[in-house]
Amino acid sequence: MSQMRILLIVGGGIAAYKSLELIRLLRKSGADVRVILTSAGAQFVTPLSLAALSENPVHTDLFSLTDEAEMGHIQLSRAADLVVVAPATADLMAKAAQGLANDLASTVLLATDKSVLMAPAMNVRMWDHAATQRNLATLQGDGVIFVGPNDGDMACGEFGPGRMAEPAEIHAAILEKLSGAPKPLAGRRAIVTAGPTAEPLDPVRYLTNRSSGKQGFAIAAALAQLGADVTLVAGPVALATPTGVKRVDVETAREMLAACQSALPADIAVCVAAVADWRPADVASQKTKKTPGGGPPPLTLVENPDILATLSKGETRPTLVVGFAAETENVEAYAQAKLAKKGCDWIIANDVSIAGTMGGDDNAISIVTTSGIERWSRLAKSEVADKLAARMAEGLT
Ligand SMILES: Cc1cc2nc3c(=O)[nH]c(=O)nc-3n(C[C@H](O)[C@H](O)[C@H](O)COP(=O)(O)O)c2cc1C
Repeated sequence: MSQMRILLIVGGGIAAYKSLELIRLLRKSGADVRVILTSAGAQFVTPLSLAALSENPVHTDLFSLTDEAEMGHIQLSRAADLVVVAPATADLMAKAAQGLANDLASTVLLATDKSVLMAPAMNVRMWDHAATQRNLATLQGDGVIFVGPNDGDMACGEFGPGRMAEPAEIHAAILEKLSGAPKPLAGRRAIVTAGPTAEPLDPVRYLTNRSSGKQGFAIAAALAQLGADVTLVAGPVALATPTGVKRVDVETAREMLAACQSALPADIAVCVAAVADWRPADVASQKTKKTPGGGPPPLTLVENPDILATLSKGETRPTLVVGFAAETENVEAYAQAKLAKKGCDWIIANDVSIAGTMGGDDNAISIVTTSGIERWSRLAKSEVADKLAARMAEGLT
């Protein structure tokens, strides 16, 4: 590979100190690194440290006569293989999502024709705020790749998602993006559902199941790694969005179906989510109260829409539709029956009666198709995902 050229934008967050280590790692792997430091970023790290480590002048000002004469902002935005924003503050994300261009960093982000990778870093409440989550979804939709944020202790004393990914993780994501590894699913669109659904009974209670979402998230990550444009429709789970994946969070089965349908057309649909078969017929508008001597309230259930069966038919049917069957007994027989009933192409059967499968990190699956059953030995969920993604890529060619 020829020398990687990275344009690193350092925003105004405590995690800016980690960008120094990122530059060191990039330089060690032979990359040419140019740095833009925002004025808030300069409150946390000095241009001198960044210039010394990157061995290049640091750019700070949109209206700099010298910089504009030497390398104008448009050229700066294009003379890189990848634009990396670390730390990506809430402010930088908001500006980029809105298309604002009122300083050097945001102007370059709007002017670039190169891929952009962001490593967000902020207080957990800033990260969870609806505005930041909206901006995240917009940027993911625009093709921005995200690394992190991770869960953990924060400089502000709180705990949760918002901690910037470690420099080594960001470095690995940059190498992966620029490695030129084969992308057999480039130009293909995939929908993956993951996690449980939550079906409300009243404003505080709901029916759900034990799905962790780990297998679905791993499959979304593996498909994205092979170049697919992946929409991950996730039920309520506490997992980080895989790099390069567009995530849509939902709660109920009906919301999950609607999100899948809005993500169509697609070449591949992988229904990994454990969708509730039934939901309460009535959702109380207020919390249901105990009444003395009243006994438990009746619980009437109605059937939820069948997402796998719905995606398996119709004009917009993806070329390859894959369903998962989590069973506790007669696993393969039920999977064969499900294949016939739903009209999908493969059923991935897994025996969730085996301790550690549901919520754990390993899975033993069988691929059930009309031509037979293929049994795989127990593997890490990430390995199952990689092998399945490769198989799906073969299945499309
Ligand atoms: C001590 C301190 C720490 C901060 N840390 C963060 C942070 O980690 N993430 C963030 O989004 N904003 C943080 N802020 C707020 C940003 O600095 C502020 O929104 C700034 O305008 C962002 O500028 P930028 O767009 O150049 O990154 C912090 C502010 C202070 C005073």
